[in-house]
Amino acid sequence: MTREEILQWLREDDSSALEDLWRLADAVRSRCVGDEVHLRGLVEFSNRCARKCTYCGLRVDNTHLRRYRMSAEEIVGCARKAVDLGYGTLVLQSGEDPALDPEWLAGVVSEVKAVTPLAVTLSVGEWPREALRLWKQAGADRYLLRFETSDESLFQQVHPPRPDQSLSRFQVLDYLRELDYEVGSGVLIGLPGQTYGDLARSMELLGELELEMIGCGPFIPHPDTPLAAGGTRPVPDQVPGTELMTYKVLALARITCPYTNVPATTALATLDGVAGYETGLRRGANVIMPNLTPLEYRRLYQVYPGKAEVRREDEYHGSIRRRIEAIGRRVGVGPGGSIRHAGGCAFHA
Ligand code: 5AD
Ligand code: SF4
Repeated sequence: MTREEILQWLREDDSSALEDLWRLADAVRSRCVGDEVHLRGLVEFSNRCARKCTYCGLRVDNTHLRRYRMSAEEIVGCARKAVDLGYGTLVLQSGEDPALDPEWLAGVVSEVKAVTPLAVTLSVGEWPREALRLWKQAGADRYLLRFETSDESLFQQVHPPRPDQSLSRFQVLDYLRELDYEVGSGVLIGLPGQTYGDLARSMELLGELELEMIGCGPFIPHPDTPLAAGGTRPVPDQVPGTELMTYKVLALARITCPYTNVPATTALATLDGVAGYETGLRRGANVIMPNLTPLEYRRLYQVYPGKAEVRREDEYHGSIRRRIEAIGRRVGVGPGGSIRHAGGCAFHA
């Protein structure tokens, strides 16, 4: 698909034309990655962050937030819970915690690998090559780092550089590739200042990066950030951060990168309720990342407000499984690594 075609789909609002897009994405999903839905248990182990991203509630300048970092024992406890729930992967996510000792995290990863059969995915921001190498050596399998937008000047604006560090996201993505991680990236849909042209270019870039995972979600304004609702004036040709736009991006990601693992993200479920997961799975997605963070901490991991799963702990894990089965899919068994990583892909050969 060319950038022009992607752009046309992003602008398409006719619901019967969009039905064709959903059908195609679902057919490609079924043919290339099958009916299994892989569940990745998400542990948000630290909400400390050195950065000042203007879109994110964890930014260092947000003083309204109590900060935490979970202990190694607590994290390993969550890993055991992931195994009990039948999940194949543990995703360890945090802000760019400036006091996080890479050796400590390496120790956590190797303990999880020693006591469980889980694949481990890290999502801890931009780190020097040496830290990434240490974690890979400790057993980490995958790494998620969204580039958020292909527009470099918009990115600099919303994600100001850290004074103590000079890495670019693309450089970190290159390191991850060299170190043989399965690599995931993605974009923030509807970031203030993001045009349709930028989103189409971002999608093209997702294809060029030949990723094993693509995670994209809608921008949800956080009141304690510079991009709070009502505080920004939309640019001409601004992309809306709606569920519809997110479904288009999911479907196009599936069609352009057929073998890639694509989650229906929590931000989508926040906008559209549990139906967001279901609809995402019908329009290209094949992964869900249920939240395993202990509730006392989960409430504090306020990247954006109203996060879906904070409201429904009681029944949450069972209901995800039931809904997957209700739409005729089945829960994947084992780590559910990328088919592309395992043996290449006909579409990119
Ligand atoms: N709305 C939606 N997603 C957000 N993220 C950060 N802030 C927001 C927000 N306000 C996403 C970013 C980041 C991921 C960890 O969370 O895309 O990469
Ligand atoms: Fe920190 Fe990531 Fe939020 Fe930026 S998006 S403030 S790096 S947690």
